Amino acid sequence: MKKAQQQATSATASGDGLRLGHVAVVVPSLADAVERWQRVLQRSPSMCQTLEEHGVRVVFFDLDNTRLELLEPFGEHSPLASFLARHPRGGIHHLCIETQALETLHARLQQENTPFANDARIARGAHDNPVFFLHPKALDGALVEFEGIGPPASSER
Ligand code: CO
Repeated sequence: MKKAQQQATSATASGDGLRLGHVAVVVPSLADAVERWQRVLQRSPSMCQTLEEHGVRVVFFDLDNTRLELLEPFGEHSPLASFLARHPRGGIHHLCIETQALETLHARLQQENTPFANDARIARGAHDNPVFFLHPKALDGALVEFEGIGPPASSER
């Protein structure tokens, strides 16, 4: 436990391993949005992925220092439906912070009773990496996703 707390401190206090992973924009039509963003950015999008369990379809654009995630609701119970109802033209939905110490961070936030979005569990995200979301009331109205990246799979227990 002590070691976990120590790791959490070093992972957050020094800023080590925290990077902006992506900024996510919800769009009413992914096909239309991809065309628009592609025209403006002059970059090619990723393949479209459907994440049924998350109720979204997603396309990424790689930028030089981060990525842009375009999200379209998928299925009848998409968590994005209410967002689009409030913002019919779409809008910025969340930002994602990458960390190499996701589980340590998750454990500390749970210990501190930080409000999570949905349930507090770690799920699989768009790149098959583990992710969780904090509730917007935790961070000043911003919905923030945390995504675990590396270290290499061999060190995973
Ligand atoms: Co995301």
